[in-house]
Amino acid sequence: MTHDKTSFKDAVKHRRTIYQLNKTSPVEDKKIEEIARLAIKDVPSSFNSQSTRLVVLLKDEHDKFWDIVKDILKVHVPEDKWEHTGQRIQGFRNAYGTASSTSPAFILFYEAPEPIRKLQTSFAQYADKFPTWSQHTSAMHQYMLWTALEAEGFGCNLQHYNPLPDQKASAEWNIPLDWSLTAQLVFGGEEAGARENLPTKSEVPIEERLFIHGA
Ligand SMILES: Cc1cc2nc3c(=O)[nH]c(=O)nc-3n(C[C@H](O)[C@H](O)[C@H](O)COP(=O)(O)O)c2cc1C
Repeated sequence: MTHDKTSFKDAVKHRRTIYQLNKTSPVEDKKIEEIARLAIKDVPSSFNSQSTRLVVLLKDEHDKFWDIVKDILKVHVPEDKWEHTGQRIQGFRNAYGTASSTSPAFILFYEAPEPIRKLQTSFAQYADKFPTWSQHTSAMHQYMLWTALEAEGFGCNLQHYNPLPDQKASAEWNIPLDWSLTAQLVFGGEEAGARENLPTKSEVPIEERLFIHGA
């Protein structure tokens, strides 16, 4: 067994929401694929549903996604609010793209309905719980990838521009329309100073949130 340099605990500590990203990449694309494969293979799912689907969009494909989001939002967002929203989208788009670097892009997290429907039939007593557990399963993948990509030197942020882009994204990348998009993890090279002035990570006292008995 080989070990990556960053320990799990260090990776957990290091993970933050980083918005100032650029189109550089600390690793080659094949490393990103390796991490995505690891997530699909080794992240657990409720009743082993294996319901999570990942779509990784690199370079030009990443830009395409944000252009789709931007076009759709433009129709929905009032004109006086557009400048702020448009700039925000442009910020995500900057995270990757057409630059000549070997930069990657971002990950779409979907949940497929078929494994969930099967479990609802096989374990009828939990039928109403499976959709919630499907969201938990997605979140496990999101956190693992967020932490693992940061451990490789990327900056990441998690977004929820759904279901607005679903139809167009489905057509563009051949994604079944019944998959439900739960989140998008944007990742890129970190701009200089991107971690300066981040908000305090943990404000609510730990004593109010953690209770240990019997130690
Ligand atoms: C389940 C979940 C959903 C989130 N959704 C968003 C989001 O839609 N947009 C965003 O900019 N940040 C989102 N975040 C980031 C949180 O605001 C952020 O993780 C939190 O403020 C703690 O900061 P840190 O990530 O730097 O530790 C989300 C985080 C989690 C765990």
